[in-house]
Amino acid sequence: MAQPALIPSRWEDAPDQGAPQAELLAGLAAPEAVISPKYFYDPLGSKLFEAICALPEYYPTRTEAAIHATHQQAIAASVGQGCTLIDLGAGNCAKAASLFAALQPRQYVPVDISADFLHQSVAGLQERFPQLPMLPLAMDFSTTLELPASVDGQRRLFFYPGSSLGNFDPRQALAFLRRVRAALPPGKGDGGILIGLDLVKDVRVLEAAYDDAIGVTASFNLNVLNHVNALTGADFNPRDWRHVSFYNARQQRIEMYLEARRDLIVRWPDGRRTFRQGERIHTEYSHKFTEQDILGLLEQAGFGNCRMWFDQRRWFAVCHAQAR
Ligand SMILES: C[S@@+](CC[C@H](N)C(=O)[O-])C[C@H]1O[C@@H](n2cnc3c(N)ncnc32)[C@H](O)[C@@H]1O
Repeated sequence: MAQPALIPSRWEDAPDQGAPQAELLAGLAAPEAVISPKYFYDPLGSKLFEAICALPEYYPTRTEAAIHATHQQAIAASVGQGCTLIDLGAGNCAKAASLFAALQPRQYVPVDISADFLHQSVAGLQERFPQLPMLPLAMDFSTTLELPASVDGQRRLFFYPGSSLGNFDPRQALAFLRRVRAALPPGKGDGGILIGLDLVKDVRVLEAAYDDAIGVTASFNLNVLNHVNALTGADFNPRDWRHVSFYNARQQRIEMYLEARRDLIVRWPDGRRTFRQGERIHTEYSHKFTEQDILGLLEQAGFGNCRMWFDQRRWFAVCHAQAR
């Protein structure tokens, strides 16, 4: 597939995190070591996430898909048809594809950091929808969003499912939504944002979703070390680490870590770090939201006309909002 012409539009206030290698090594050297969750997604990580979505414990994917299926006519009425559908963190593109019939997009722009997985997913999708122009963009949208020239002048709908916004801390989440808002023309003519967010619920349901019985989420978490090794030349051995996750009720978030099973030294070209047994590397937050949190965030980011749809248990919310 030909690469589209790109209009540079670097986020104005995005931190310049530099190359992945520099960002990762800075995180490993920090007093409390950290690896951004965006590095989960190498080719194996993307497949492991697909497997997580099929787990009985991982309710978000099937709950959001059910909301889309139940309310697709109302969603289409709110969003309008014929937009350019920009899918932020498209993954296997399945959620967007399930809305094509209702939304009748003019073109589909899936964006994902996991380049190989994205291109494979889009190749399969293009066979199923040969008439729909598809312009996959392999990029890290947390630092930059370069939209293809063909998006210019089109009604845009930013699609941001999977509660991925919850991976940002609240300040970053607001900044990210403001950047999306800045990429939309004001007024009712635009498509706005269609976002899926996971809601606060019983801690047992939340904790099971991030620590499943057969260890797929643990593998997903541990695989980030293989990706870090590939990107930095570090010598992490995943066998030295274990998956830890829990719900922090005060902060309304799942926290995920890798914990050293023993005292060890991790080396990379020009550097090393000692980890004590029990020391942790932070790998993910997954913030959970109330309805009020969502409305407040969207409002502060410059969105209005919010409409929300829920599942019967009110475990998940899908929200459409337009730029004010
Ligand atoms: C939780 S998965 C959601 C996948 C799919 N949208 C869904 O709802 O099932 C997050 C997706 O976003 C992508 N992603 C994560 N961080 C990203 C970033 N900074 N820039 C671009 N894509 C990113 C990942 O590769 C992955 O496909």
